Amino acid sequence: MAEQHTAIVTGGASGLGRAVTLKLAEQGVNVSIVDISEEAGNDVVQEVESHGASAIFVKADVTKPDEVKNYVDKTVEAFGAVTMFFNNAGISGSGKKFLEHSIEDIDQVLNINLHGMLYGIKYVVEAMIKNGGGSIVNTSSSAGLVGQVGVGTYSATKHATIGITKTIVAEYASEGIRANAVAPGATETPMVEEYMKNNPQAKEVAIDPVPQKRLGTAEEVAELVAFLLGDKANYINGAVVPIDGGFTAV
Ligand SMILES: NC(=O)c1ccc[n+]([C@@H]2O[C@H](COP(=O)([O-])OP(=O)(O)OC[C@H]3O[C@@H](n4cnc5c(N)ncnc54)[C@H](O)[C@@H]3O)[C@@H](O)[C@H]2O)c1
Repeated sequence: MAEQHTAIVTGGASGLGRAVTLKLAEQGVNVSIVDISEEAGNDVVQEVESHGASAIFVKADVTKPDEVKNYVDKTVEAFGAVTMFFNNAGISGSGKKFLEHSIEDIDQVLNINLHGMLYGIKYVVEAMIKNGGGSIVNTSSSAGLVGQVGVGTYSATKHATIGITKTIVAEYASEGIRANAVAPGATETPMVEEYMKNNPQAKEVAIDPVPQKRLGTAEEVAELVAFLLGDKANYINGAVVPIDGGFTAV
């Protein structure tokens, strides 16, 4: 029988994290949903359970190292091990040009998207190695591959995501760790819907440079992430996979 997998999904209460949680649960993976949003996180647990799979919710702010360590400990306590990690919690920032980012804006985006992601890797990889290995997908962005107006600090964190992904491969592949990154273009999630509600022209602006002339869906990203996390992707290591309708190809 195939190994029983257990995944930690940060930002699992909404958007890409929620979609990946549901996709993994459909494949029989136990999921530990990590988020600051308790009510929405518990709703996703119920959705998973209604499909006969197992999930827990662990409330954590990924910017706090003790809460990150705690979500790893709670997952191991509940399911015995962690074998998959979707390191995904993130925010987009203000949408302003870089010189208009306040120091507070810069620090907030760095804290969540960069520190939160690095803390997650630190504690999760440690737990995975104790158990013989595991697989990680970090959420980068098309803003992690190319420059775009209005996302300077965000873009810096999403380029950094690719740097740590490749470092993990160099340092820990020999200990059974695989790490890849996904780079979604604009994808229909609550984060983007909220941004577009406040910027009426934003949808048109986002779609215009996309060869396929539409936004992505969370389900499309979830298919890719579940594949990369899973055993069928065993020889894919250090890849950065754009999922953007061709946006970064042209
Ligand atoms: N939607 C897109 O177009 C798009 C494109 C490229 C990359 N991304 C990236 O995908 C990831 C998920 O974004 P989404 O679109 O699903 O957004 P979302 O807002 O729908 O979901 C993000 C989740 O992260 C949680 N979160 C935020 N700060 C947190 C913290 N400090 N600790 C714990 N949880 C926290 C939120 O509560 C929320 O549930 C982000 O890293 C984002 O940068 C999104």
